[in-house]
Amino acid sequence: MAIRKVREDGDDVLRKVCKPVEKLTDRLQTLIDDMFDTMYEANGVGLAAPQVGILKRIVVIDIDDGDAYTLINPHIVSMDGEQIGDEGCLSLPGLVGTVARPEHVVCEAYDRNMEKYTIDAHGLLARAICHELDHLDGILYKDLAVDGLRRVEREEIDEEDEE
Ligand code: NI
Repeated sequence: MAIRKVREDGDDVLRKVCKPVEKLTDRLQTLIDDMFDTMYEANGVGLAAPQVGILKRIVVIDIDDGDAYTLINPHIVSMDGEQIGDEGCLSLPGLVGTVARPEHVVCEAYDRNMEKYTIDAHGLLARAICHELDHLDGILYKDLAVDGLRRVEREEIDEEDEE
């Protein structure tokens, strides 16, 4: 269990396409533990492996709905609807921007036992999944923000959800 350094915008690692996980090694289990620790420490609701410098298709999400999700090799199988709202990112501290996302996504992924599962996600969870999966392909929410980014006060960010 350890806090890892979160890479910030401008770091090339955030713009790379991550590789699928073929075998879940002890080292990757430790990475996942550290990703949760790092996310919780920063009051984030999601974190993708490239944000801690590891180019693997691994995401952790906890939007405080009672579930903590580990998504390995995730992909979205269907999406519908639209939601428009503010997003932040631990790799772009102090900023938010407005991004349109699907209201509903169905996502398939592998869990920490490399068992396949499906998440049927609405609202914030759907937004978090889209945001984190984008990280695995080198996409940052600022690329999608409709009106650019706004600087926010720290207290406000704590109420927003950084991913
Ligand atoms: Ni992010």
